[in-house]
Amino acid sequence: MEINQKSNRKIIVTCALPYANAPLHLGHILEAVQTDIWSRFQNLNNNTCYYFCADDTHGTPVMLKAKELGISPEELIETTKKDHEDTYKLYDIKFDNFYSTHSDENKNYAELIYTKAKKNGFIKKNNINQLYDEKESMFLSDRFIKGVCPKCGAEDQYGDGCSKCGATYDVSEIIDPISTISETIPVYKESEHIFFNLPKQLKTLKNFLMNSNLQEPIKNKLSEWLNDDLKEWDISRDPPYFGFKIPDENEKYFYVWLDAPIGYLASISNWAAKNNLSMDNLWSEKSEYEIYHFIGKDIAYFHGLFWPALLDAAKLKLPSGIFVHGFLTVNGEKMSKSKGTGILAKDFTKICEPETLRYYFAAKLNDKVEDLDLNFDDYVQRINSDLVGKYLNIASRSSSFIKKNNNKISDIIDEKFISEISSETSKIVNLYETRNFSKAVRLIMNLADKSNKYINDNAPWKKDDDEALKIATTALNLFNILTIYLSPIIPNITNNAFKFLNQNNQTFDDVNKRLSSNINEYKPLLKRLDPIIISKEDTMTNNNNFINIDQFNSIDLRVAKIIEASNVDGADKLLQLKLDVGDLGERIVFAGIKKSYKPDKLINKMVILVNNLAPRKMKFGISEGMVLASSNDDDIFLISPDTGATPGLKVK
Ligand code: MSP
Ligand code: ZN
Repeated sequence: MEINQKSNRKIIVTCALPYANAPLHLGHILEAVQTDIWSRFQNLNNNTCYYFCADDTHGTPVMLKAKELGISPEELIETTKKDHEDTYKLYDIKFDNFYSTHSDENKNYAELIYTKAKKNGFIKKNNINQLYDEKESMFLSDRFIKGVCPKCGAEDQYGDGCSKCGATYDVSEIIDPISTISETIPVYKESEHIFFNLPKQLKTLKNFLMNSNLQEPIKNKLSEWLNDDLKEWDISRDPPYFGFKIPDENEKYFYVWLDAPIGYLASISNWAAKNNLSMDNLWSEKSEYEIYHFIGKDIAYFHGLFWPALLDAAKLKLPSGIFVHGFLTVNGEKMSKSKGTGILAKDFTKICEPETLRYYFAAKLNDKVEDLDLNFDDYVQRINSDLVGKYLNIASRSSSFIKKNNNKISDIIDEKFISEISSETSKIVNLYETRNFSKAVRLIMNLADKSNKYINDNAPWKKDDDEALKIATTALNLFNILTIYLSPIIPNITNNAFKFLNQNNQTFDDVNKRLSSNINEYKPLLKRLDPIIISKEDTMTNNNNFINIDQFNSIDLRVAKIIEASNVDGADKLLQLKLDVGDLGERIVFAGIKKSYKPDKLINKMVILVNNLAPRKMKFGISEGMVLASSNDDDIFLISPDTGATPGLKVK
């Protein structure tokens, strides 16, 4: 693909819509940062680029998660959206709009696209036989079925594939299937489903493959899929389902993956309305905007086949390109979203300045579909050596000479040396454009090395004041140029650097301008990072902060006796407990232990109570604390004191 050298391009970018059933982890941040750097770069380089995202709110996992928490799906997705937005903000992700697939705009677009596809002959119906959970009255997708692998006999394998032998199979082949939701044996049941005729789009998809900006391995994958038999795509689900009803059907819902990418359109149109812009200009058949989706490799199938096929069936513009990245590992370990492991993005900001992670990701990102490892030792060493030791060092060591001159810079500079650095701009621009951020970072750090060498070679500390001022002013001009180069990656640090230099709104064009005003006093813009110590267990449980002894002592743990226990109407997992805490009185606590304990077996059992947990208002009442328990996948084990302990005793 040749590099686009035009300016004044109009561009829309998106990153994938995170599921609304869990907080963001660092893999989500990797993707958002990659997109953000590219989008910021475009805007700093004479183009207009808008960046959109939203929460992906529909489907069974959101529905089940809400049920588990005893709240409505609407409540869950609202809280999650706030949390996601806060988290992205911590990493300086600059969306033009962050929206939700559970919105009027998305409903309208989903209905519109479906109706057009139907009118254009892409919609069919077929009866299918599917596993059904009679206890929960719901059809089960493959991920809610477990059983014995038909190939190797391993137990406890998911419906679509075996983690022991790697075999993939049809869910009908699995031996002794069981519903993971109710732990009952599912039965087969027939139901009518609505299908999108994907094979009918073969020609469109082949054209898309030829004419859009795709990475080589993605092209190969897509053409492999196209050359295999394309299957019709099942776009309907039966209730109970959290999603949009399909128009003119009786109790059928759009499958979450139908309305998820349509969420891109919904987010844009919500923003367009607020800004008095028309969707006809932004995303229609004739839109002048280039449209790019940044996604992870696991969802290439949806974006490379279903999405263009749907857009074309509704006569909307197809994406200009899809940019696929690999998966993030942490210290060589896989992060698992299904297990809820991996480091949560919010937790990580408590350990490190989040902007430094943007830099680390940039230093490792390229245009390949390769996985990327976040290694803590490497990370700390990178930030300290590159950002503190090379880049910021230029400013900190030159500013003192200017301070001596009342912060006035020199009129005379070494322009020849400065233009050696600024003349690298087109190379850096091309590296950003082609998403070779790691190469851009390497080049910028080479220029920082050169700049430091310039200072060393000219040794201002050995020179008279005028000469020292000239050298330092030259160095600060170099620093200004490097700051422009780094601004898509570390927007906050570079913004503060511009403030120090008395510059504002710097773009890539400004590399040819020289500093002309007084500067401000230099204050360190980033502290050196301390080594990050996170044990393996901590990484896997998201609990990556050590606590100190004071924090531990602040938890008031007490021995308590269960004096009443009962089921809670409408709650699957909870029991209501009344506890005797000796002199401290009685407490009502809701505990998620129902699957392992019968209420009557609990009476007189001694447990440990977290006595000073802030009372929590739950759907069923107020919970005045928490009882300690451990658990594995199958069972929950309450923690009890040894015989002799009496209610109210403090646990230390
Ligand atoms: N909701 C869908 C996307 C719908 S887009 C119309 C989804 N959500 S997700 O939360 O599971 O993932 C969101 C994005 O994060 C995807 O692009 C996915 O590839 C990416 N990542 C999830 N885990 C990741 C890593 N460990 N590393 C890097 N990216 C990862 O899929
Ligand atoms: Zn197997």
